[in-house]
Amino acid sequence: MTVPLDTVSLADYERHFLNRADEGVIGYIAGAAADGLTQAANRKAFDALRLMPKSLVDLRQASAACTLLGESLPFPILIAPTAYHRLVHPAGERATAEAARLTRTPYVVSQQASLRLEEVAEAAGDAILWFQLYLRPLREETLTLVRRAEDSGYRALVVTVDAPVTGIRNHEQRAGFVLPPDISAVNMAGMVATDPVGGAGSPVFRGMLQHAARWEDIRWLRSQTRLPILLKGILNPDDAGRAVDLGVDGIIVSNHGGRTLDTLPATIEALPAVVSAARGRVPVFLDGGIRRGTDVLKAIASGAAAVLVGQPVLHALAVGGMVGVAHMLTILQTELEVAMALAGRPTLSDVDASVLFRP
Ligand code: FNR
Ligand code: LAC
Repeated sequence: MTVPLDTVSLADYERHFLNRADEGVIGYIAGAAADGLTQAANRKAFDALRLMPKSLVDLRQASAACTLLGESLPFPILIAPTAYHRLVHPAGERATAEAARLTRTPYVVSQQASLRLEEVAEAAGDAILWFQLYLRPLREETLTLVRRAEDSGYRALVVTVDAPVTGIRNHEQRAGFVLPPDISAVNMAGMVATDPVGGAGSPVFRGMLQHAARWEDIRWLRSQTRLPILLKGILNPDDAGRAVDLGVDGIIVSNHGGRTLDTLPATIEALPAVVSAARGRVPVFLDGGIRRGTDVLKAIASGAAAVLVGQPVLHALAVGGMVGVAHMLTILQTELEVAMALAGRPTLSDVDASVLFRP
């Protein structure tokens, strides 16, 4: 497994991944919902933004460093939670965690990781790890996961709120994707299934949605842990205000990379209203379609504290294992530095709305 020499951008990792991976795995990972309109919109909205540079700025103290939830980071870039890394590489989440440590990138580990969260933490060494949760139908199961994450040194909980059911994944269905028998969500082993329960009526409405998380569950979780809690999958400013009032510590503006409800807005379009609703009380993050340093710059300019990347991590892991992920993250970090320098914005606090060109 070697990284081809022509791999110089995140798009190159995607291209090599598409050439090498099997159709089923591509169907799952590319996995846009329905017609893929939201997934495409995430990219199109970034591409439509133009930058307005400042010339002859003093760049001698330039730095992309930031502080997030009390942690000093060299870059405002995190690894988004994605399921089943062993689908694309035998070392799975261990390799991702090692790349996170090497590049000083915080890693949000998915509840549906294909390795035990304790094993991922061991591989991560001193990297910053957060744990992503889907609230379980049984609160004691959620608490078991929270305590395991606390005991293993995870430093925040990311509760994903945009997927009470899986979206209409036609790409995945057409590709006939099924999880191989040796790969599973091992952290949930033995837990009660949330699959549709039997009986008459709609499996969606009578089954899974009986267990869907509600605001009172967030209030309950807040009372159970001292870890910071972030809500991932917020697009509506009203939800953002409500989350902050409940004591949530951060918000991730996300449409799940276009994998849940198709025709949701692009995240970069939804971001400004959520940032306004948060009124500076908590940091607001963004994911969905980040593929270039200029995308990171545009997100920060639109009010994000930091961004997360999902699919590119899996592409790079498939193509080059740990080295691939570390290389991919380094490309993105370098691109952000170049974008800041060429836009004449030496620090992230200089990256405000004035960097977005308005004709
Ligand atoms: C995801 N995502 C996701 N989100 C989450 O909260 N828990 C999860 O287990 C997963 N699993 C998952 C698997 C795969 C294959 C993908 C591509 C995505 C969504 C993810 O965290 C993030 O929101 C998007 O991937 C961001 O968009 P980009 O960067 O992939 O365009
Ligand atoms: C997905 C689930 C795991 O997007 O969140 O595939």
